[in-house]
Amino acid sequence: MPLLADWLLRHSVVMCLLLHSLVLMTFCFHHAATSCSKSCYCSQSEAGGKTVRCSNLRLTEIPHDIPNDTRRLYLDFNLLTGVPANAFLQLRLLKELDLSHNELAQLEPGAFKGLAGSLQFLDLSSNKLMTLNSEAFEGVHARANLTHNPWHCDCNLQNVMPHMSLEPASLAGIVCQTADPEDSRAQGSPFLLDKDLDLCAVLRKTTDVAMLVTMFGWFTMVISYLVYYVRHNQEDARRHLEYLKSLPSKQGKSEESSTISTVV
Ligand SMILES: *[C@@H]1O[C@H](CO)[C@@H](O)[C@H](O)[C@H]1NC(C)=O
Ligand SMILES: *[C@@H]1O[C@H](CO)[C@@H](O)[C@H](O)[C@H]1NC(C)=O
Repeated sequence: MPLLADWLLRHSVVMCLLLHSLVLMTFCFHHAATSCSKSCYCSQSEAGGKTVRCSNLRLTEIPHDIPNDTRRLYLDFNLLTGVPANAFLQLRLLKELDLSHNELAQLEPGAFKGLAGSLQFLDLSSNKLMTLNSEAFEGVHARANLTHNPWHCDCNLQNVMPHMSLEPASLAGIVCQTADPEDSRAQGSPFLLDKDLDLCAVLRKTTDVAMLVTMFGWFTMVISYLVYYVRHNQEDARRHLEYLKSLPSKQGKSEESSTISTVV
């Protein structure tokens, strides 16, 4: 027994090292076989093509080494704050893109460029999106999940809606959390292409009022000037009249009457 214990003690270090390298090797082979992007997990199926999963990795930016034959890409539950231009340009076969449960607040123009021909489903739910930029979706006709975002419904968003290339039904996911004007009953309701709800009307009304005030201002100035001008001339005329009165000639009298008629 003491002999065995002694042997074990002496060889434990070696055994440990062996075991360690074995584990490392297994891990490496496993890594090589199932991952294609440095940090993500890849799988391939006959029917579905390549799927890349980068979920829940605390990613703050989109990995640059996503294989170009990826058909499904999962980037959900990360810390992405925006999608830069041309982020998925190489992924010509991408059918499904999941960006849900991130911190996305901004989609830059051209963010989904290159996906117009292939993308069928785009998940942008549970993010921090307040408004949309139609230039980000240029030509992308995908069905999108836009729910669970703090949408701010205003004239700007209303103007963007008709230019969105996404499947129209997707826009039902835009539920206003805040609205401008606040009392527009848009809050808490889906902001579809609602004909009754016109968030630009108040803006137009404000512009009209501003125009009216400006015009009134000009009008007042012109009237004031006219009044001043008439008063001033009346004073002159009166002085002229008094001077003429002081002249005893008949000619002066006739001139006087003509001056009065001119003034009046
Ligand atoms: C992916 O890239 C390789 C090499 O650049 C190219 O040969 C291949 O055609 C590309 N595949 C797709 C689907 O774009
Ligand atoms: C959209 O996303 C929300 C939250 O992420 C989820 O609960 C819902 O089922 C999704 N809807 C569709 C149609 O995928």
